[in-house]
Amino acid sequence: MENKMRPAEMKRINTPELAQAFIHGQVKAVREQVGDKKVLLALSGGVDSSVVAALLIKAIGKQLVCVHVNHGLMRKGESEQVIEVFQNQMDANLIYVDATDRFLDLLAGVDEPERKRKIIGGEFIKVFEEEARKLEGIDFLAQGTIYPDILESDGVKAHHNVGGLPDDFDFELVEPVRLLFKDEVRCVGHALGLPASMVERQPFPGPGLGVRCLGAITRNRLAALRESDAILREEFGKAGLADQVWQFFTVVPDFRSTGVRDGKRAFDWPVIIRAVNTVDAMTATVPEIDWAVLKTITDRILAEVPGVCRVLYDLTPKPVGTIEWE
Ligand code: XMP
Repeated sequence: MENKMRPAEMKRINTPELAQAFIHGQVKAVREQVGDKKVLLALSGGVDSSVVAALLIKAIGKQLVCVHVNHGLMRKGESEQVIEVFQNQMDANLIYVDATDRFLDLLAGVDEPERKRKIIGGEFIKVFEEEARKLEGIDFLAQGTIYPDILESDGVKAHHNVGGLPDDFDFELVEPVRLLFKDEVRCVGHALGLPASMVERQPFPGPGLGVRCLGAITRNRLAALRESDAILREEFGKAGLADQVWQFFTVVPDFRSTGVRDGKRAFDWPVIIRAVNTVDAMTATVPEIDWAVLKTITDRILAEVPGVCRVLYDLTPKPVGTIEWE
C-alpha cells in the first residue's frame, strides 16, 4: 500500500473545517482509485467502519456494498442502528445478515475464552466470505484501518479487517482513514453527519458480548447481559457519565447465587458492572461512581432483567485485573 506513513506536515484534524477538507480530498482520491467499480465493506457499526462507510457513500454511492453481519453478540439496538442510519437515512447498498443462530450453535458448550474468540473470528470471516461470493463484479475491499493499527500491528487487527479471506479474493484495498488517529476519525464522522452515539461510541471488543457472557454462552444469560448492559448505558448517559468513563459494560458469570423474590427462594445469575478509565487500555483505574447512580442501576436490573438476583460493582484496577473478564 502506498502512503503508509503519516507525512510530518499532515495537520491534526480537529476542527469541522479540517474534517471537511479531509473528506473533500478523500472523496476525490477514492473516486480516482475506484472509477466505476464496486467496493465491498464489512460494516460492524463500530466507529471506524461506520466512518469509512459514510465517506464512501459520499464518494461512490451505490458502488459501495456494505455487509453487516449480526453475530448475535451485538449490544442492544446496535444492528438496528446500522440499518437505520445506513439503509434508511443514507440509502446505502446494505446487506444485513442475521447469523445469530449460526454463531450461538457453534459456541454452545464452549467455555474456553480463546477458543470462543477463535470461533467468533473464524465464523465471521466465513459468513462474510459467503456473502462476498454471492456478489459479482467486486474489485475493491474497503477497511476501517486506522493509523494506530498500522503503527502497532502492521495494519493487521482482527476486528478492523477481514484479513483471513481466501487467496482467490484478490481485492485491492481502499483504506481512506488509514492515516488518522481515533480522535480524528471521530471528528470526520461528525462532519459526515453520523449520529454522536455512533461516532463517540466506547471501544467494543470484536467478539462482542461473547466475552462478557462468561463460560459457555447460553441464550438466557446472553439476554440478561444485553438487557443489563442497555440499562447501564442508559443510566450512565442520564447521569452524564457516558463521556467521562472510558469503557463500561456488564458481565454475566456462569454461576448462580441464592436470592429471595416474592417470598420465594430464587437461584439466579449475578450481573457485574465494570467501568474503567484508561489512556491506552494497558493500565486502568476504576472511577468512583455516585452511590445513587449505582443504586438506580442495581434496582432497575433487579426489577427489569429476568433471571438476575444480584448486582455487583467490580473495584479491581488493571493490573491486576484485565478490563474484560475473559
Ligand atoms: P483487557 O481485557 O485485555 O482489555 O484489559 C483491553 C482492551 O481491549 C479490549 N479487548 C478486545 N478487543 N478483541 C477486541 O477487539 C478482543 O478479543 C478483545 N479483548 C479485549 C477490551 O474491551 C479493552 O478495551
